[in-house]
Amino acid sequence: MASVACTSRNPLLTRPLRTAVSQITRSWQQTRWSSHAPTSPAMLARGQKPVTIQTLQKMYADKSPITMLTAHNFPSALIAQEAGMDMVLVGDSLAMVSLGMPDTSEVTLDEMIMSARAVSRAVNRSFTVGDLPMGSYEISPEQALASAIRMVKQGRMQSVKLEGGAEMAPQIKKITTAGISVCAHIGLTPQRQHALGGFRVQGNTLDKAMALYNDAKAVQDAGAFMVVLECVPSDIAEEVTNALSIPTIGIGAGNKTSGQVLVQIDMLGVRPPDSFMPKFVKRYGSIWDAGVAAIKQYKDEVSDRTYPTAPYVYKSDAKVTEAFRAAIKAGQS
Ligand code: KIV
Repeated sequence: MASVACTSRNPLLTRPLRTAVSQITRSWQQTRWSSHAPTSPAMLARGQKPVTIQTLQKMYADKSPITMLTAHNFPSALIAQEAGMDMVLVGDSLAMVSLGMPDTSEVTLDEMIMSARAVSRAVNRSFTVGDLPMGSYEISPEQALASAIRMVKQGRMQSVKLEGGAEMAPQIKKITTAGISVCAHIGLTPQRQHALGGFRVQGNTLDKAMALYNDAKAVQDAGAFMVVLECVPSDIAEEVTNALSIPTIGIGAGNKTSGQVLVQIDMLGVRPPDSFMPKFVKRYGSIWDAGVAAIKQYKDEVSDRTYPTAPYVYKSDAKVTEAFRAAIKAGQS
């Protein structure tokens, strides 16, 4: 836009051409020109009250299931909030489902923060949680607090999540004592998938169920406000839930937990239909099919020039077009 305005003052142009260019410029200035369509989160929240820790505690006390969904960028966060999610999680599943990495161990704190910043710009009602990625908290409670502070200050998240049970209690204590809420994550902890021998159900023997129970108690005692239980048999998850005084959020843990979380890209079906999906994922949508069909139609319409036609084109004033053509012709002779 600015460069066109400058061009209209270009002394190298003939006078009629300068006039035509400035007329066109003025008509453009009356039209919204960007190809982007920013959406205001304020428009979408529609005056609903923001979800706070207190809201979540009340839901837990009322036994009202808490809904959580991942989001990794601005539009996926907008849509999660618009659909009424109580909580939006910037999970490190970002690595696998959005960045195409083979597992979650590769994603960095900087990458997580960039994703969190985008999500935070979209969300003004749902309560946000930012995952601390592998390597950003295990070394010491001090390292964990430094990473959590970055996730809040730079990622603009309202709380953080980290994987691990009793062994992470010092980290959880350090972060919560500094005033940052922590959601713990036990059961299947994907950051440790290689040590666990892959993505496997956890807590499925008496010993493992007891270890899960002890981990749940330890993270609660350390100050976690919530705990994710991943890939745990339903009955075991129910008993752990009953034994705690903080909400449990299940993923592959049955419907007796205090709430549920899913990875948005999985549940919306933004993947080829034949791609692997864990047993617990229900596909609530088929965005892949809808996307492929829409893009194919776009390709066909570009190929046969049926797109873009009216109403997708800007029309110039007939007189401007005429003057422009005449100016070009005159300039050429
Ligand atoms: O990274 C993630 O998306 C998660 C959820 C699956 C709980 O941790």
